[in-house]
Amino acid sequence: MVALGGKLSGIALPIQTPRLALRLPRRSDVPLLVRCLNDRAVFDPVFGRHTRLTESDEEAWVRASLRAAGRGEKLNLAITLREGGTHIGGIGLEIRDPDNRRGWIGYWLTKAYWHRGFGSEAASAICEVGIRKLGLHRIDAHVFDFNPRSMNLLRRLGFAVEGKKREVLFRWGKWHDEVLFGLLREDFRSTGVAR
Ligand SMILES: CC(C)(COP(=O)(O)OP(=O)(O)OC[C@H]1O[C@@H](n2cnc3c(N)ncnc32)[C@H](O)[C@@H]1OP(=O)(O)O)[C@@H](O)C(=O)NCCC(=O)NCCS
Repeated sequence: MVALGGKLSGIALPIQTPRLALRLPRRSDVPLLVRCLNDRAVFDPVFGRHTRLTESDEEAWVRASLRAAGRGEKLNLAITLREGGTHIGGIGLEIRDPDNRRGWIGYWLTKAYWHRGFGSEAASAICEVGIRKLGLHRIDAHVFDFNPRSMNLLRRLGFAVEGKKREVLFRWGKWHDEVLFGLLREDFRSTGVAR
């Protein structure tokens, strides 16, 4: 991986926001990952696959995330509450196109923690790292067409719709589009400072 991606390994972890700490995942996170990610409310908008996630999927994901972070290619982080450390979700930042300073983000929260601004707070912090610390010029995010919560979150941070991939997912007896969002660095609106 080239220079820009390598800079990821220089990011101080955990990334702290007013209410959250974004830390590397651990083997001990696996049971919660399996339970929460298989909740249909989370699984359907996040995964294109149709089969449930297993413990071994998530063990492999934790191992791969730690390797990728070590190589400075990708930051897959657990979203935890600063107070008490409860693990409430996950967020990732990947430098997919370092030559053009372009990154990609994805995120999820356990349903019990939706609608309190935690998603925006975590996504804002990871975009802040991407834009201010890594110097990314743009960040991509892809959302299935049935996920207005995620689209609202992205718009709040300054992302704009740039197009869509038509009928990429077959779910509930019909085809769904993937809406392509992009954020340019000058449009970024931080909702909270990453410390
Ligand atoms: C998408 C997802 C992460 C959004 O999480 P979230 O924390 O509910 O999202 P936000 O941070 O945008 O929440 C903002 C809402 O919380 C409300 N809120 C309550 N307390 C708040 C606070 N202290 N600060 C900010 N907002 C607060 C806001 O008013 C806002 O409501 P509105 O959307 O009706 O305007 C979450 O729904 C999720 O995990 N979904 C399943 C997985 C998923 O879709 N992942 C993305 C795939 S593309």
